[in-house]
Amino acid sequence: MRSRRLVPSSIPISRAALLVAHVLLCSLPGIVSSKSVILSSIKIFTTHEWMPTKPTIYFHCQGANETILPDVKEKDFLYIFSGEESWQPLTELPEKKCRRCGLYEHNTLKSDDVFDEWELCPSNFVHGKYVRLKRNEFNATFVCPQCTAFGGTNLWLQG
Ligand SMILES: *[C@@H]1O[C@H](CO)[C@@H](O)[C@H](O)[C@H]1NC(C)=O
Ligand SMILES: *[C@@H]1O[C@H](CO)[C@@H](O)[C@H](O)[C@H]1NC(C)=O
Repeated sequence: MRSRRLVPSSIPISRAALLVAHVLLCSLPGIVSSKSVILSSIKIFTTHEWMPTKPTIYFHCQGANETILPDVKEKDFLYIFSGEESWQPLTELPEKKCRRCGLYEHNTLKSDDVFDEWELCPSNFVHGKYVRLKRNEFNATFVCPQCTAFGGTNLWLQG
């Protein structure tokens, strides 16, 4: 009898503990959910379109839709974003997994130009920040508060 009473009472306790842990984890944004990456700033050093039209620059990750950066039209101009723009976040990164992404420019006559294409990984981010500089092409700063190069989940909480 004693052991039978222990079993039913221990189940609600562990369920309650799980629930509490779940609520705690979910109230800290991003520890459980996937990792949102925003574009915090970008400067392009060139455009590839030879026609006198404004370029259409977009970010694209494999398996996802293109994200057009509607404001980025001029070269050598530093565009700064808050992360609240309608097209943000740029992408989401799965847990400990990279996505192949790139920055491109639409082309009217031939296939789109590539500024750069690379593996965007959670471990790229140091204290939630990642600067990607490609010589003569662009300099972009990405922010992902939930990403960290150290694999921990609380570094970003401290700063
Ligand atoms: C891409 O965009 C289309 C139309 O807006 C949407 O239905 C689809 O779910 C999107 N795909 C991804 C992978 O986000
Ligand atoms: C690239 O951008 C970052 C962030 O705006 C800046 O700190 C850095 O000096 C820039 N580097 C170059 C070469 O423009």
